[in-house]
Amino acid sequence: MPVSPKEFREALSHFASGVTVVTTRNAAGQSVGLTASAFTSVSLEPPWVLVCVDRKSDSHDSLIHAGWFAINILARDQEALSRRFATAEGDKFAGIPYRTGIHGLPVFDDALTVLECRLIHTYNGGDHTICVGEVETARVLSGEPLLYYRHRYHSL
Ligand SMILES: Cc1cc2nc3c(=O)[nH]c(=O)nc-3n(C[C@H](O)[C@H](O)[C@H](O)COP(=O)(O)O)c2cc1C
Repeated sequence: MPVSPKEFREALSHFASGVTVVTTRNAAGQSVGLTASAFTSVSLEPPWVLVCVDRKSDSHDSLIHAGWFAINILARDQEALSRRFATAEGDKFAGIPYRTGIHGLPVFDDALTVLECRLIHTYNGGDHTICVGEVETARVLSGEPLLYYRHRYHSL
């Protein structure tokens, strides 16, 4: 018998991860983004990463249409930012300082690392889309990461 969604979610919660906010622009030029932990490196040369984005999320179609996205890897003190971008309500960027990067991508300069990516491949990932990006710029700060494990935020 296949694993139920509840059991599956619980099993996966034992995988500790970092936390990112994936940002892009919608067709009207507005900043959009979502919290995502389904992020990983793919290739060193060429420099590719992937993020799995829920087809039902508001950000999904914007990201595919824009063809560009930024991965903001969150620092330990950015739990509030993670919570804000894990909701589907309102203007998530209101009152939050961000910079406009390449191709108009909104980026958070106080994130631990920012990767600006060109969307080069998409694959069917069930109820998600696997979005592969080629990293065009990488900016790194020193600091400690925000972690997510068993439905809670942690630090090292
Ligand atoms: C820690 C954490 C990790 C998440 N990881 C992902 C992810 O990898 N992919 C995804 O599509 N949604 C993920 N989500 C859920 C989205 O952030 C959430 O559905 C969000 O409301 C989507 O926003 P949008 O509909 O405005 O795009 C995660 C949420 C949390 C709290």
